[in-house]
Amino acid sequence: MKPDSAPNRNDPCWCGSGEKYKKCHLNYDIEEQLLNRNPQRPQPIPRTQEFLAGMRSSCDLAKATLTMVEQRLRPGVTTEEINRWVHEFTLDHGAIPATLNYHGYPKSCCTSLNEVVCHGIPSPEVVVKEGDLLNVDVTCILNGYFGDTNKSYLIGEVAPETARIAQVAKECLDLGIAAVRPYGHIGDIGFAIQNHAHAQGCSVVEQFVGHGIGKKFHEEPQVPHFGRSGSGTLILPGMFFTIEPMINLGRKAVKILGDNWTAVTVDGKLSAQYEHTLYVSETGVEVLTA
Ligand code: MF3
Ligand code: CO
Ligand code: CO
Repeated sequence: MKPDSAPNRNDPCWCGSGEKYKKCHLNYDIEEQLLNRNPQRPQPIPRTQEFLAGMRSSCDLAKATLTMVEQRLRPGVTTEEINRWVHEFTLDHGAIPATLNYHGYPKSCCTSLNEVVCHGIPSPEVVVKEGDLLNVDVTCILNGYFGDTNKSYLIGEVAPETARIAQVAKECLDLGIAAVRPYGHIGDIGFAIQNHAHAQGCSVVEQFVGHGIGKKFHEEPQVPHFGRSGSGTLILPGMFFTIEPMINLGRKAVKILGDNWTAVTVDGKLSAQYEHTLYVSETGVEVLTA
């Protein structure tokens, strides 16, 4: 049972878990106190069935686009060929590639190879080879709704550290998703991601964040992949947002190349990323691009 007065931060939690209070129920208790003091629950974001159905369809298409890419990927293809596959597949399904001409971005997807963190621009000069780590990020606009997802692919046989960074990035996304609760906080997500990345000796890129999405590509809330649990914006039912952690094998520092888009690790070590678009309901979270 919960005592009337809270334990100190470093005392054992009241729930009997054996964990320190600060590691266990402290944040839940703070949240409960906040809700008690202001018993009016924040209003969920009203969403029509039409909006939800529109997001489901565009996210289904974004997912199908990645599946199509995955089936065709092999050593020897150029990233420009991947761009063409994505471009044509998207148009063939009645949608528009969201990245094309987005703030001047010139292509229909992003292809980020090895030390490229994100926003790699497809090019006929870039040939994918055995041993590479390639992220393909696709976003489509279907009937006005945006669906955004990416995956990192291991090309043929890869070095153990290449497989490891991809695995850690995937786990970071999954843990980030698991941290999403209606009426929880955006900071819970980054906290879960950062803890796992650091425990694995990897670092978390801070310059790029997940984002609200819907009838616009990028909107509120920003979703950092680092932070403190219980901090940041309240997560409300009706929200749509992405989680898309970029996890580095070396240091977190990133720089942008002269094309003004391509973000690379400063130390030249590998970076991996996975992204899903999510919907928060009254009872939980739905991964729309899974
Ligand atoms: N799809 C990316 C994201 O996850 C954004 C790419 S914007 C571009 O938010 F202009 F670089 F393509
Ligand atoms: Co995104
Ligand atoms: Co994306």
